[in-house]
Amino acid sequence: MMRVLIVDDERNIRLSLQKYLILEHIDSESVESGERAIAYLAQESFDAVIIDLKLPGMNGQALLEWIQHQGISVPVIMISAHGHIPDAVQALQAGAKDYLVKPFDPAELVIKLRSLVEDGEKVSGNSPVPGKNGLIGVAPVMERLSAQIDKLAATDVTVLLTGESGTGKEVAAREIHRRSAHPDEPFVAVNIGGIHEGLIESELFGHEKGAFTGALTRKQGLFELAGKGCLFLDEIGEMPLPLQVKLLRVLQERKIRRLGGLKDIPLSARIVSATNRDLEAMVREGRFREDLYYRINVFRIELPPLRERREDIPLLADHLLRNLSSRMGRPKPNLGPEVVEKLCSYSYPGNIRELENILERALIYGDGRNIRPEDWGFPDPKAVEKREAPPFGEPPENPCLSSTQVPQSPGVITQESTALGSLEEIEREAIREALARCQGNRTKAAKELGISRKTILNKIRTYGLSC
Ligand SMILES: Nc1ncnc2c1ncn2[C@@H]1O[C@H](COP(=O)(O)OP(=O)(O)OP(=O)(O)O)[C@@H](O)[C@H]1O
Ligand SMILES: [Mg+2]
Repeated sequence: MMRVLIVDDERNIRLSLQKYLILEHIDSESVESGERAIAYLAQESFDAVIIDLKLPGMNGQALLEWIQHQGISVPVIMISAHGHIPDAVQALQAGAKDYLVKPFDPAELVIKLRSLVEDGEKVSGNSPVPGKNGLIGVAPVMERLSAQIDKLAATDVTVLLTGESGTGKEVAAREIHRRSAHPDEPFVAVNIGGIHEGLIESELFGHEKGAFTGALTRKQGLFELAGKGCLFLDEIGEMPLPLQVKLLRVLQERKIRRLGGLKDIPLSARIVSATNRDLEAMVREGRFREDLYYRINVFRIELPPLRERREDIPLLADHLLRNLSSRMGRPKPNLGPEVVEKLCSYSYPGNIRELENILERALIYGDGRNIRPEDWGFPDPKAVEKREAPPFGEPPENPCLSSTQVPQSPGVITQESTALGSLEEIEREAIREALARCQGNRTKAAKELGISRKTILNKIRTYGLSC
């Protein structure tokens, strides 16, 4: 029996279509939003999808793009309101197979469905191929960002990526490199905040044998290793002032010299920097050199917080879940519509990394088949018992919850918690575990928790943790 998915926010249309189709021996599921449709399409196979172009939240066009992006080969029929035919035509150009204009005769829909399915286009919704694009997102802001990347990737312009922690700055940097003229050259990422201050210079510029005590051999620096590729200077705001002067000189002169060396080596790599700090404020406060700021900020890309592109949450959740489960060597569990809805209602102060942490936690503590909201919080049963607020209620205004709430995910950590005696213990334990997993690397642990390096350093001090 043919099986189709109907995506329309008008309940009457969904119900009347379903009634009509069943009389024609066509099985159907219906959903009211693009987000819910994704949850279905990621798990189940359909012979065709009928999509209303005008949907609240993720619109029909975005859903069509998601289907294409995922490589799901299901024929799509678009439904457009009278007066919006140009949009339907645009959808055809984007890969939809056909369209109908409201109000339409359901018999016409059935004819179209039968002819499409007889064309032999069978869906394989269970095995979408991974997207070609590393930067997942169909929200308008992401489309604009992707177009910007396309433009600048063709040049060798210096780029500054800004945005909150976990918004995908590194993913964007890799995407710039991937779309550049030299994608086969190295992509070298260096976390300025993660290298011991005394070592940054020799890491970046390299050194000659005997340049300083301990320099037993000659070493190429990261600028050199990047060749004609890309050098990604992550957490550039952490760069100490004396080194900022040296970096400025390198960028001005496009040459580097190894420590203790005499020879100039031309700099061929593109420089992409990233920060989640307010560099302009740092410049005003004299903590970041203004001249360097202008050098690195030739082309600026601001990565939006996840809460400003909620329509991408189902896509990202699906993508992250696929990666996480394959890394764990497990089948990808189900992500039911209710779960998708819950995921979409949260504010994610730790952005995509926090979403990833939540899903990872759910995978570890879940039953292996389904992703369940009860597995999202802290695994400590005491903590779960003490939970007062629902795990995914109204998003908190501030990344730091009020003193009466408990953490909603590993990435949300309270500043001061007085209401719950054990909250500090839970937080301390979460940080201790993250540090252990990251072999004491505080920057990595902070990233994993979706908090800033500064916060983790404060917490380590407060809790007297050693790493
Ligand atoms: N558009 C995207 N598509 C797919 N995955 C993404 C996307 N953006 C981010 N991610 C995933 O989210 C996580 C965080 O991304 P990334 O490390 O690039 O963030 P970031 O902005 O560099 O964070 P930080 O400021 O903490 O360093 C990674 O696991 C990454 O794979
Ligand atoms: Mg990063």
